Amino acid sequence: MAFDPGPPPQIRFAVHLDDARIEAFHRDGFTHVERITTDEELAWLEPLYDALFADRRGAWRGGYFDLARPYESEGPDLVPQVLMPDLRFPQLRQTTLVRNAIAIGAQLLGVPESELRTWSHMISKPPRVGGALPWHQDEAYWDTGFRYRALGCWTPLDPATRESGCMHFIPGSHREAIRPHRHIGDDPRIHGLVADDVDERRAVAVPLAPGGATFHHCRTLHHTPPNTSDRVRRAWANEVQRDPAPLAEGEDADRPWVRAGREAWNRRRLPGG
Ligand code: NI
Repeated sequence: MAFDPGPPPQIRFAVHLDDARIEAFHRDGFTHVERITTDEELAWLEPLYDALFADRRGAWRGGYFDLARPYESEGPDLVPQVLMPDLRFPQLRQTTLVRNAIAIGAQLLGVPESELRTWSHMISKPPRVGGALPWHQDEAYWDTGFRYRALGCWTPLDPATRESGCMHFIPGSHREAIRPHRHIGDDPRIHGLVADDVDERRAVAVPLAPGGATFHHCRTLHHTPPNTSDRVRRAWANEVQRDPAPLAEGEDADRPWVRAGREAWNRRRLPGG
C-alpha cells in the first residue's frame, strides 16, 4: 500500500524574528532561529522524508538525482536531492514550518505574506560519505530573465554540525553581483554549481539542532561541507519568494552555465526510460 502520512499535526507554533535578527539578515545576508517547527511535526516529517528518498523515488519522475555526479551516471548517492516534494505530498504546504517560513520571509523581504510563495527541495547526506555542496549563490541556478526577491529557509531534521554538514555563509556577499559559476567538474550534466575564489577564512558556520532554520538571501554565498559523522544529515530547503519579475529585453545577464545546464537537463535520460 502507498505510504500515507496524513495531514501534519495541528499544533499552533508561531515564530517571528526580533529586530536584532532582522538587522543581522540585512547586514550579513543570513540569520537563523533555533526553532521553526515542533517536535511533533518533525516526527511526522521524518517518515515522509524517508519515503521520498527510498528507492530513489522522489516526488515525480526525474525529480530525484545526485547533485554531485552526472544525471545518467551509476553509483552511490553522495548528495541526493528530491525536487519539489510537495508534488507527491501536498500536505507539506500546510506545515507549521512553511507557515513560519512565509511569516519570517515577509519580515526579512519586506513583502506582505499574501505575495509570497514557496517551492522546496530536500537534500540528504548519508553518514560518513555524504559529499560537500560547494560555494554558490542560489540565484546563479535560476533563469536569467527575471528579477528575484527571494530567500532560502533551510531546516535540518538531524543535528547539523561542522562534521555533519551545517550551513556556512560569507557575510555581506548578498550585496555583490552574481559571481561566475561553473558546474562541478566543469560538466553541465552535474547539477551542482561552484563559485571559485571564495575567501573561506571569512566563512561563518551555523550549527543547528533539528527543527532550527537558517535564512539566507538569494545572493548570499553559502556551502555545506561533507558529512563525516556517523549519522545521516537530512535537510529540507524552502525557497520563499515573490513571483519573479520579467526583465526587459536586453536586460538579462549572460550566464553560460545556466544555458549549458538547461541543455544537459533537457537531454538527460530519465530513470527507467
Ligand atoms: Ni543553496
